[in-house]
Amino acid sequence: MSLQNKPTTALTGATGFLGSHLMASMLTTGYRIIALGRSNKEGTLKERIFKLMRWFGIEALDGQLELVEIDFLKPFLGLPESEYKELCAKTEQIIHCASDTSFSERKRENVFKSNVASLKGILDFAEDSKADFFHYISTAYVAGTGVTYCKEILSSAKSFTNVYEESKAAAENIISRFCQKSSIRLSIIRPSIVYGDSQTGRSLKFNALYFPIRSAQSIRDIYLNDLYNNGGIKAAKNGIYLDKDGYLFLPLKIYLPEEGYLNIIPVDYFVNATIKIIENCSQGGIYHLTNNLPTTMKIVAKYYEQLMKVRGVEIIYGLQPDNLLRNPAEELFDRFIEPYRPYLSDKRVFDRTNACLATDNLNPPEFTYEIFKKCIEYAISVNWGQSIL
Ligand SMILES: NC(=O)c1ccc[n+]([C@@H]2O[C@H](COP(=O)([O-])OP(=O)(O)OC[C@H]3O[C@@H](n4cnc5c(N)ncnc54)[C@H](OP(=O)(O)O)[C@@H]3O)[C@@H](O)[C@H]2O)c1
Repeated sequence: MSLQNKPTTALTGATGFLGSHLMASMLTTGYRIIALGRSNKEGTLKERIFKLMRWFGIEALDGQLELVEIDFLKPFLGLPESEYKELCAKTEQIIHCASDTSFSERKRENVFKSNVASLKGILDFAEDSKADFFHYISTAYVAGTGVTYCKEILSSAKSFTNVYEESKAAAENIISRFCQKSSIRLSIIRPSIVYGDSQTGRSLKFNALYFPIRSAQSIRDIYLNDLYNNGGIKAAKNGIYLDKDGYLFLPLKIYLPEEGYLNIIPVDYFVNATIKIIENCSQGGIYHLTNNLPTTMKIVAKYYEQLMKVRGVEIIYGLQPDNLLRNPAEELFDRFIEPYRPYLSDKRVFDRTNACLATDNLNPPEFTYEIFKKCIEYAISVNWGQSIL
C-alpha cells in the first residue's frame, strides 16, 4: 500500500507501550498518524513522542506524524472548535489504544474516568469525523473470572479479577453499541499479556511477566550482597548459601491457586497482527491476540534459575496453608507479585477462530529460553525501564 491509499489514522495512547510500538510500525509502513495525547511532568506531548521516535530510530518519519494535545473529558476533545473540525476533516480511521492500565481498586474512580467516561469524547469524535473504522485495543481478560473457554464475542461477565478488566469490558459494550448505531465499522483487538520484542528483546514497559522476575532478582541481590559484603549472616539464618559452582541456593516457594498457564505474546506479534486486522479484516469483529502455546510459571522459574544462577525456586499449585512459615524472601516476593498472581496460573483458554486472522496463520511464538534471556537481559541493561528514554 502506498502512502496515498493508507487511511490517515488518529491514534490514542501513542505515549504508552503498545501504542508507541504500533505508531512506530505504522509510520514505517507508510501511514500518516495523528497522535492524540497529553503532556505530563516529563514533557509536552511533542517532547514525549520525539523521545520515543528516537528510541525507535524513526525520527526521519516525523513528516508523516501530527500531534494533537487533547482531553477526552472535554467537549470537542478540549480543542477550539475550528481545530476540532480540522482534525475531524483529516481523520479517516481511529485506533483507540489509550487506557488506564492500573489494577488497583483504590484507583477505581480514575480507571473508570479514563477507560469509560472518556469514551463519549472519542466516540463523538469518531462520528463527527465520519471515521470509516474504529479499532479498539481491549484485553483478552474482559472474559472475566469463572469462565474457561473465552469466545471472540462481547463479554457478559459479571465478575473480574480487577477494576481494569471490569472497565475494559464495560468499554467494549459501550463502543460496540455506539458503532452499531452510527454504522461505524468496529474491530475489537484483545491481546493477552504483552512482553518485549521477541527478536530483539527490547521493550518500553516492564510489568506483568517482568514483575516476578524483577522481584526475584532484587531478592537474590539482597542475599548476594549479604554474602559478599556482610559475612552472609542474614543468608545463613534463612538457609541461603552459595554452591561450589557459583549458584545461589535461595529457597523460594511460590504458591499459585491452581495449575494453569501464563498467556503472553511479544509486542512484535501484537503489532503485526493488529496491522493485519486493520488492513485485511474489512468486516470488523473481535480478535483474541493470545498464545495457543501458553507458558507456565514452572517453565519461567526454570528459565529464571538458569539465567540468574539460582536454585531453590519451587512453584506449588494450591492454597497456601494458613499457618505456613514464610522466610523473608518469600514474604517479600508474595507482596511484590500479589496483583499479578491470578494471571500466573490461569486456566482460561482463548478462542482464536475469527476467520479473518485465523486463515493468515499468524501466531505468536512459544516462549523459549532464548526469548526469555533476550528480554530479561534487555530489561536489566536499561535497569527495568529506569534508564530507557
Ligand atoms: N501491555 C499489555 O500487556 C496489554 C495487554 C492487553 C491489553 N492491553 C491494552 O493495550 C492498550 C495499551 O496498553 P499499554 O500497556 O500500552 O498501556 P500504557 O503503557 O500504560 O499506556 C497507556 C496509554 O494510554 C494513555 N492514557 C491513559 N489514560 C489516559 C487519559 N485519561 N487521557 C489520555 N490518555 C490516556 C497514556 O497516556 P500518558 O502516557 O499521557 O499517561 C498512554 O499513552 C490498553 O488499552 C490496554 O488495555 C495491554
